[in-house]
Amino acid sequence: MASFELLKRDGLARICRFETPSGSIETPALLPVVNPKINTVPPRELHDEFGFGALITNSYIIKNTPELKDRAQAEGLHKMLDFDGIIMTDSGTFQSHMYGEVDLTNSEIMEFQKSIGTDIGTVLDIFTEPEWSKEKTRWATDETLKRTEEACAMKGEMLLNGVVQGSVYTDLRTYCAEKMSKMDIDVHPIGGVVPLMEQYRYSDLVDVVMSSKMGLNPARPVHLFGAGHPMVLAFAALMGCDLFDSASYAKFARDDRLMFVDGTFRLQEMQSLDCDCPACRGITLEALKKMKNRDRESLIARHNLHQIKEELEIVKRYIREGRLWELAEMRCRAHPAMLDGLRRLAEYRRFMEMHDPISRDGALFYTGPETYNRPVFQRYESRLMTRYVPPSGKVMLFSDNGGKPYSRSYADEFDMARRNGYAPVVVTPFGPVPAELDELYPLSQSLFPSITDSDTDRRSMGLTMEFLQRYDFEDTVKLENVEDRGSLEYDADMLRALAVSRYQFGIIATEALFRGKVELVKSKNTNKIRNVISDGEHILSMRAGDGMYTLKAEGAARIAAAVPAPYIRVVVNDDSVPYVTQGRNAFCQFVIDCDPGIRPMEEVIVTDRNDRVLATGRAMMTRKEMESFGRGVAVKVRNGTSDEP
Ligand code: GUN
Ligand code: ZN
Repeated sequence: MASFELLKRDGLARICRFETPSGSIETPALLPVVNPKINTVPPRELHDEFGFGALITNSYIIKNTPELKDRAQAEGLHKMLDFDGIIMTDSGTFQSHMYGEVDLTNSEIMEFQKSIGTDIGTVLDIFTEPEWSKEKTRWATDETLKRTEEACAMKGEMLLNGVVQGSVYTDLRTYCAEKMSKMDIDVHPIGGVVPLMEQYRYSDLVDVVMSSKMGLNPARPVHLFGAGHPMVLAFAALMGCDLFDSASYAKFARDDRLMFVDGTFRLQEMQSLDCDCPACRGITLEALKKMKNRDRESLIARHNLHQIKEELEIVKRYIREGRLWELAEMRCRAHPAMLDGLRRLAEYRRFMEMHDPISRDGALFYTGPETYNRPVFQRYESRLMTRYVPPSGKVMLFSDNGGKPYSRSYADEFDMARRNGYAPVVVTPFGPVPAELDELYPLSQSLFPSITDSDTDRRSMGLTMEFLQRYDFEDTVKLENVEDRGSLEYDADMLRALAVSRYQFGIIATEALFRGKVELVKSKNTNKIRNVISDGEHILSMRAGDGMYTLKAEGAARIAAAVPAPYIRVVVNDDSVPYVTQGRNAFCQFVIDCDPGIRPMEEVIVTDRNDRVLATGRAMMTRKEMESFGRGVAVKVRNGTSDEP
């Protein structure tokens, strides 16, 4: 049995613990390809020096090399390779892709993989080539599915790779992935992608990966078969790939090619060796060129591995910091074909949005027009157009001066607008931002260049026009065109308290929350709203960091009474009730139902099966993830109802 637990996520990207009977690794992880006939870097060194906890080798090559076959069957793969970590084997599919038909059946190679003690074996899938017709691809995909069923029945203790095929046909990819999700499979490689990467067809690669991900069980690791260039790791992780493998580190070394995060470079064409990795340190370009062939190959292979390792560490750091979009957007600028991939990803924004957190710790950085494809932008637009109630029929528009929050940098101007009966709205790269919403993530927690580009200008103007029409304002003015004669009274804090609640919980929930006498408790230091008290009860608190509310038990009870289930509910089974009521986290194995609209980091209500409120907290997963994962935190519970005064 294997287990796969979500530890940290940023959208579809995730850091997970993958446990197998022979060890565990943290993903995203790369498995170096070890060719048992050519030991470029010995497996022990991969494990002890480089820290690779898993490798991949080829069972077909071992089976066809009598000496290796006998040793592997006699002493086992781990001993033969001298590797203590997790060993994955491939099945010979790739050899048939490269060299034509292989003389082998699925059951033969399955039996063989079991006989040599592989940890994760691979079915003999059919490599679906990008230029294949749809008919041929459909046949090959169905045949792969049949063989995978056969492999499931045979796998025994061995873990199994069920390879998603389907060439570039997105419907076949999703179909194959859905079928495989129902089988007893441990890891899902996405296969048939090597030619796409070799030909720099990154937009096709995006179609293939995303359509596969959409059909897969989210609680299983996804391996992008044959991907291991440091250049693609951030982008592939962004699409939810967990495992990678690389034969290139060794193959490229053989013909003097060095991998870097911005591409592959030929030693002969390099002007300097500005690399400080442990392999290159202290070595000049001239010295490297003069080395004996074997020594040079050996050094370059290690250099390549160091580049991969370092980039993986950077990818993980960006996932932890909630900034993987920034990294992927930067990396995709290494090659125009990768930028095509990034642009194609916009087609999948609905699926991306389902996984994108409601708020992040760090600020959003603009890296270029592709940044607007991130789901946060569409989410803001749709909530602004459906969950906003204008405080006035008249608008005063302000330009974005970059001073955030705007209500501080425009304090006097907003006051003047409101005294004269206008609702202040700033025209920003997000589109129009009403003054009441300006402290919400990511409006305030974002940085854009002050010299704007035409995409930004067009976008913010277009969205502002839409907004003005949507709410049918009778009058739209600019500051300089208004004479300040007003003395209308207003309560900016109350306007904010209501607007944020509508944005976060919706209009009906807000009516239920804010009733009777409403008092706002403000921070003495920052003057920001801290707590909302309604009818004498503490219903909401506002977080200073992202300007969003946390729900108190009474607030949750009011929403639950006013908005029918499943709205923002996570329902746990009876076993879990006493724990959650005491404020312990809700784990996915106890979740029996959940609102499909819930997004990661969203404020939610944990209930029992009768819709009784047990606790409030933040969702860590989507509905499908809660259903699929066998372990892990579904809701980080903040307070259970029993510990409330
Ligand atoms: N290695 C690279 N691509 C593939 C693939 O599609 N299937 C298998 N089994 N191995 C691969
Ligand atoms: Zn180096």
